[in-house]
Amino acid sequence: MSDRTATVSPGWKRLARPETPELPLEASAPGCITLVPLPGPRALEDDKFPFEALSDVAESESWRKEINRPTTHIHKWWAQRLGTVFRAMAIGAFAPSGTDIFDFFYKPIRIPCATVFDPFMGSGTTLAETVKLGAKAIGRDINPVAHFLVKCALAVHDRKAILETFCAIERDVAEKIRNYYRTNLPDGTVAEVLYFFWVKTVDCPSCATSVDLFSSRIFARHAYPKKFPQSQAICPHCGCVNEVHVDARDAKCRACKGSFDPNAGSAKGPSATCPHCEHTFPIAKTIRETAKPPAHRMYAKLVLKQNGKKAYLHASDEDRELYAKAERALAQQTNAYPVVAIEPGYNTNQVLGYNYRYWHEMFNARQLLCLSALADRIRAIPDSVLRELFTCLFSGALEFNNMFASFKGEGTGAVRHMFAHHILKPERMPLEANLWGTEKSSGSFSTMFDGRIRRALDYADDPFELRLHKNSKTEKVFGLSEKIGAPVADDYATFESDASVYLSCGDSGATDLPDRSVDVVLTDPPFFDNVHYSQLADFFHVWQRHILGATGTRMTNTTRSDQEVQNVDGDEFTIRLTSVWKETHRVLKDGGLLAFTYHHSRPEGWRCVLRALIHGGFGITAAQPIKAEMSVAMPKQQAKEPIDLDIILVCRKRAQLETKHWNCDLIGSVAPPAQDQVDRLRAANRVLSRNDVRIIVMAQLVRQLSRTPTLDSALQQLDSVSGDTEALIDRIYSGRTDQLDKPVRKKGAVQRVSNASAIFKVCVQAIQRGELIEREGRSDKEFHFQNWFKRRIEALGLNFDSPGRNSYPDFRLVRFSEGFELKGLAYPGREADYDCNSQVPCGEHNGRQVYYVFGRYPMNPDGNRYPVLDLVLCHGSLLNADNTYVHKNKSFRGFGSYGDILVRDRKMYVAPTPFALAKGTSHRRTLIVPEGHAVDADLVHVGAFTRREVDHVVVAYNFDLRTNQLETTQVANPNAGREHVFNAYRVEGDPVDAVSLLTRSQVLAGLEASASARDDAEEDEDV
Ligand SMILES: C[S@@+](CC[C@H](N)C(=O)[O-])C[C@H]1O[C@@H](n2cnc3c(N)ncnc32)[C@H](O)[C@@H]1O
Ligand SMILES: [Zn+2]
Ligand SMILES: [Zn+2]
Repeated sequence: MSDRTATVSPGWKRLARPETPELPLEASAPGCITLVPLPGPRALEDDKFPFEALSDVAESESWRKEINRPTTHIHKWWAQRLGTVFRAMAIGAFAPSGTDIFDFFYKPIRIPCATVFDPFMGSGTTLAETVKLGAKAIGRDINPVAHFLVKCALAVHDRKAILETFCAIERDVAEKIRNYYRTNLPDGTVAEVLYFFWVKTVDCPSCATSVDLFSSRIFARHAYPKKFPQSQAICPHCGCVNEVHVDARDAKCRACKGSFDPNAGSAKGPSATCPHCEHTFPIAKTIRETAKPPAHRMYAKLVLKQNGKKAYLHASDEDRELYAKAERALAQQTNAYPVVAIEPGYNTNQVLGYNYRYWHEMFNARQLLCLSALADRIRAIPDSVLRELFTCLFSGALEFNNMFASFKGEGTGAVRHMFAHHILKPERMPLEANLWGTEKSSGSFSTMFDGRIRRALDYADDPFELRLHKNSKTEKVFGLSEKIGAPVADDYATFESDASVYLSCGDSGATDLPDRSVDVVLTDPPFFDNVHYSQLADFFHVWQRHILGATGTRMTNTTRSDQEVQNVDGDEFTIRLTSVWKETHRVLKDGGLLAFTYHHSRPEGWRCVLRALIHGGFGITAAQPIKAEMSVAMPKQQAKEPIDLDIILVCRKRAQLETKHWNCDLIGSVAPPAQDQVDRLRAANRVLSRNDVRIIVMAQLVRQLSRTPTLDSALQQLDSVSGDTEALIDRIYSGRTDQLDKPVRKKGAVQRVSNASAIFKVCVQAIQRGELIEREGRSDKEFHFQNWFKRRIEALGLNFDSPGRNSYPDFRLVRFSEGFELKGLAYPGREADYDCNSQVPCGEHNGRQVYYVFGRYPMNPDGNRYPVLDLVLCHGSLLNADNTYVHKNKSFRGFGSYGDILVRDRKMYVAPTPFALAKGTSHRRTLIVPEGHAVDADLVHVGAFTRREVDHVVVAYNFDLRTNQLETTQVANPNAGREHVFNAYRVEGDPVDAVSLLTRSQVLAGLEASASARDDAEEDEDV
């Protein structure tokens, strides 16, 4: 058994750092800028509010929220907003109009005499930012789990006492838990088990054989399977673990020599096929009929050997015995876990359908046993603040330690927590993690202590903001804020006399705050959609109540409440939201601001907000778009057009505002500000979806209408302009192409930055330095070239989304609306054309400029490292000028003599490469961009040529299935004869021989030769 000292978690050591004195710091330390609430317009209401720059900062926060704002991430909550946005809102709500908020963002601002209220505080984003600015903060949430999280996050914490408590818990329970996650290896040594792998089983309704619900025999793959294709599969014959290629369809078990398809399993979609009698049956219905929660079978484990290496092994009889021992131990216990029934509801019906009737049924017996040991120990912590903090940590760990969690694979945090889909979805292949954990664990109590509590303490001591630099590097700026950690009042009287934070749990439609006691309300109401926080939060609540007792905010065993603002019905939603805005109106000072974030893709979402605001007595003075977190409940139609923005709606009491009549040109007053905001975001390289444009337009529209004298006339006008609104959205959205092609220099607009020249140059330099492509694993060569390219853009410090199986283009830059599609070609070989598969090449895709990088490497290299022979980086419009084409695979049924065969029409495109199009590209490194695209001044111009659009374009085809004849339908090209001019460039020092276009007949001849070679090869494959 391993040495005791070696089991001390990493958090222990890192926590033991020199102490800094505890709070409270003096408010408004020297050197700070103090803002006082004054009448008059505020910077948040300014047209110039710098939402573009702030969005960039918010976006970089969003990549690692838990690291960049650990205070509010000590426990799961839904729809958490970005701290950057709320810091900017808070400063902008107090700073007078005209203030440069982006400049103030990085200044030590203090607002000591102000009180800020968030009636929908969630995880406390507003509160944490307010505390950092030295203002007084009031937060309220109807959900006890949210209230508890914020209370733990904002309280004063004694680092030393926390550390001691953690050590005491470790001393008392760590070993007890870890004993249940150990195994003997064949070589006689003992190993820690990081994870046990389970599969759901169901008895075949026909022959009663227990069927494993594997949809694939591969149970562990790397998060980047293209790069690391080695995966682990379980043999269906003997249960042994085999290493296989991630795409393998055929494997031979190393133990029993039986062959199997690693990518197949008994389960396929909603049904399963019994391996014994081949009966196919529906999974959900069969499980439902058993009237019991689904059964599971343990089949594998990932162990941590004493030499620090990990290994995947099959589960042994000894492992099953250890599990049985846990089951027996649990059976001996009383009150080990909360026994609370799951109530029906929008988010719980699915699990009820799988016969999960109690919350504890989401755990296995060993998880319950270990959780109960930990829960009992935490309950015994004498100090209430510490007890609550550790309960919060425990509760957070629940999310990773249940039978709804699954394995993400190597190369990421290994455990996919249960709410990854924002719903409660039964997992067919659950993962049981080691609850106490080892230093190689993820989602364990000890590693989360380090990752959540330690981080939150560090941040509380020394909060920081992110600042982006031109080279895309991000800096942490310290020294701007007060420390976090204050005595928290739980009634208004105490808050008024001696506390700076007041938290309460309840409906914000009724509060104990005095009239006109609040300077600013900053909040984020629920969007009316399908996620019912309370139905999900109950999963945590029952355990928090189990440890902390059924008192205070935890009297009842559910967090559901009739007053929760959460309803799929628009009228209900409006009524509840109105009640909170009315109360907000009462407690807000007359000159105060209400600012909140909101977005909704449907007009009804905006109608509801408008109604609730006017009813509540508010009118909108400004609407600022800002980078948002992805919507939690993304309905399908919205996922296609994702919303990347929130709108900050800035409101004042209507009595303080002049009302306006919109007899004539309502749309005329909406269009300019909406267009301006869209232009500014695009000039800052933000890719906007149609839904993004839609919410910008809708927000400007309700802003104008909120000033109409009566609600009725506002709603009437909203409805009467719905057609014009759609037309406006279309017009602004589709204006994008022209704008990107020729950046218009408007006042204040930034010229579009293209990274193509810079990327081209680093590629050429790398070739000159002799940087070779490296063969990594068995994946095909194109990925090796991709990896080579990836190292180049990494060297430039550009952030990009990693290429995935279906991502197009392969490398999508994050802060620029540009992407790069890679094509590696073996030389000599097929160079005239390349398979674009189901992606028609073009120069723009989803609002993003697309560049292609063609690189050739030796056909049969000797060895695993080989050079890039030549390279063309070209804009996609060189390959095809039309970017409106949408590809869809279609199918029809009715083929075959019985009329029940489906024909799937999968169009595959093959396009000429630049090597086949332009002379002078072979054995050279060339950049080709459309005329008008700026390139770096140090590049050498080596040619200009024109591609002319053909007179007729193919718009359809007809395939005769009897004769295998294919006929195309052509129509006149509306752009016939249109010329597209391209410029070619090389780096200084490279040959300057000219690049020119081949004639059309030369190109076609080259392509024909290539096509017949390919057809031959394909026919060979078929036999
Ligand atoms: C969108 S979330 C706020 C998230 C928060 N901005 C954050 O960053 O974590 C909305 C919150 O409103 C709360 N809520 C819903 N109805 C409420 C009501 N009537 N009174 C108070 N809070 C309510 C929900 O429990 C939820 O936490
Ligand atoms: Zn069967
Ligand atoms: Zn086998």
